[in-house]
Amino acid sequence: MPLHSPLWIFGYGSLLWKQSHPSTETRLCFVKDYARRLWQGSPDHRGTPQRPGRVATLIASPGDRCWGIAQCIPSEDIDATLHALDIREQAGYERLSFPLYDSDGKTGAEGISYAAAESNPHYLGPDSTETVASYVLTCQGPSGSNVEYVLNLAAALRKMGVEDPHVESIADAIEKADSGGMHD
Ligand code: BEZ
Repeated sequence: MPLHSPLWIFGYGSLLWKQSHPSTETRLCFVKDYARRLWQGSPDHRGTPQRPGRVATLIASPGDRCWGIAQCIPSEDIDATLHALDIREQAGYERLSFPLYDSDGKTGAEGISYAAAESNPHYLGPDSTETVASYVLTCQGPSGSNVEYVLNLAAALRKMGVEDPHVESIADAIEKADSGGMHD
């Protein structure tokens, strides 16, 4: 039996530009009291176990809003979608349910998402913008470079009209280093 019908998936990271499942509708929404932070290590997508990349997770942050998208999954695709996402998000992420809010601040639906708790073995935690950027510049994994991940995330957020100073500052530092020829 499907878990929920219909099911909404909340995307705040790679799902903003890379969708792997069918959906009937996509809406801009936010999750309350959470912030998007590039504090999770990626040993399997944007890095390796020896050199994990930096990818987004949701960090509890009272008063903050993490903007993203809600994708409505057709009933017949729910089981396969959740199974595929459980595999894609297996390195430290947990499947969780969040109340979703629209731009008027109204809620009415729960969304499933994946967040990596601070207790997971791949969690890297906060660091200065320069330190995070310097790791991102050198990490690469089976899904591509960590630079591509951060720049795609920043571009997707800009396109949605979402201001995210944390992601933007790291994307800026990467672009400056790239144009200054600091890495090859
Ligand atoms: C995300 O990175 O946005 C994401 C990926 C899979 C499921 C939910 C969210």
